[in-house]
Amino acid sequence: MALLSFDDRDGTIWMNGEMVPWREAKTHVICHGLHYANCVFEGERAYNGKIFKSKEHAERLLASAEILGMPFPYSVEEIMAAKDAVMEENGVVDGYLRPVAWRGSEQMGISAKQTTTHVAIACWEWPSYFDPEKREKGITLKTSPWRKPAPDTAPSKSKAAGLYMIGTLSKHTVEDAGYDDALMLDYRGQVAEATGANIFFVKGGELYTPVPDCFLDGITRRTVIALAKDAGITVKETKIFPEDLPTFEECFLTGTAAEVTAVGKIDDLSFTVGPLTKQLRGTYEKLVRGE
Ligand SMILES: Cc1ncc(COP(=O)(O)O)c(C=O)c1O
Repeated sequence: MALLSFDDRDGTIWMNGEMVPWREAKTHVICHGLHYANCVFEGERAYNGKIFKSKEHAERLLASAEILGMPFPYSVEEIMAAKDAVMEENGVVDGYLRPVAWRGSEQMGISAKQTTTHVAIACWEWPSYFDPEKREKGITLKTSPWRKPAPDTAPSKSKAAGLYMIGTLSKHTVEDAGYDDALMLDYRGQVAEATGANIFFVKGGELYTPVPDCFLDGITRRTVIALAKDAGITVKETKIFPEDLPTFEECFLTGTAAEVTAVGKIDDLSFTVGPLTKQLRGTYEKLVRGE
C-alpha cells in the first residue's frame, strides 16, 4: 500500500506569517535551503492541546538559525503564537509540530548572504514514534558505521537539516540489518546518541548519559535529568565507551518523538526494561500531560 504523502494532506500550514492550504505550502526548487542545506527545524509535541516546552523549542529554532548565520525574521514570542494558531486552525490536540526555516532563492552559490529566510510550521495528529509493543519489550539498536562529527567540523549545537544526512545513512544501514535505530558513536569513538534521540544507561540505581559536547543536548534529555534528580536519582554525565556497555543493566532513549523509550538490545547485548526506565517513563508521561 502506498504511503500517504506528507505533501498531499488536508489542513493548513503557517508559512511566512500566513495560513496556507496544506497542498499549496511550497517553495521553489532553486532555494538555497534545498541545494546547500541552509535549513533548520524543530520537532515538538502537543499533549491535551498544549505544546510541551514551546518556548524552549522556539528558542532553539532561533539559536539554530543564528549558528548557521541565518537571519531569523520572527521573535520567540511570534513563533510561539504562530504554533498555537496553527494547532488551533488544524484542530490538533495530541500531535506533532514541525517548524522549519530555510534560505530562499535570491542567490545561487555557496554564499547565501543575499537570501531571505522563510519559515513554516506544520502540525498533525501523531501517536507514539515507535511501535507500542516494541516500547514495552525495548527497541533494538545497532552501532552505526557513521560517526557524529567533531564540533569544529559541523554545527553540532544547531538542529540543522544537513546534520541529518548522517542520521538517515545510519538509520538505513541498521534498518537493513533488522534493527530499529542506530547507536551513534562520536568522532572519538565514544557513545553519543541515537539518530533522533539522546541515550541513557542505568547501573546500580544510577543514571549515566554522555556529555552532549558534539550532539544535541535534547530538551527531553534535560527534562528527564531534572525529573531523575527530583526523584533523588544520581545522574552522571560522563564519557561512555562501547566497552562500557556490558556493565549497564538498563538503557533508554529520550527525545520529543521517542519520549522515554526502552532499549532492549544494542548489537548482541541485551538490556532489561527495568525499574528506573519504567519510573522515568511514567513521570515523563505524567509531566507532558500536565498531571
Ligand atoms: C539528533 C537528535 N538528538 C537528540 C534529539 C532529542 O532532542 P529533543 O529532546 O529536544 O527532542 C533529537 C530530536 O530532536 C535529535 O534529532
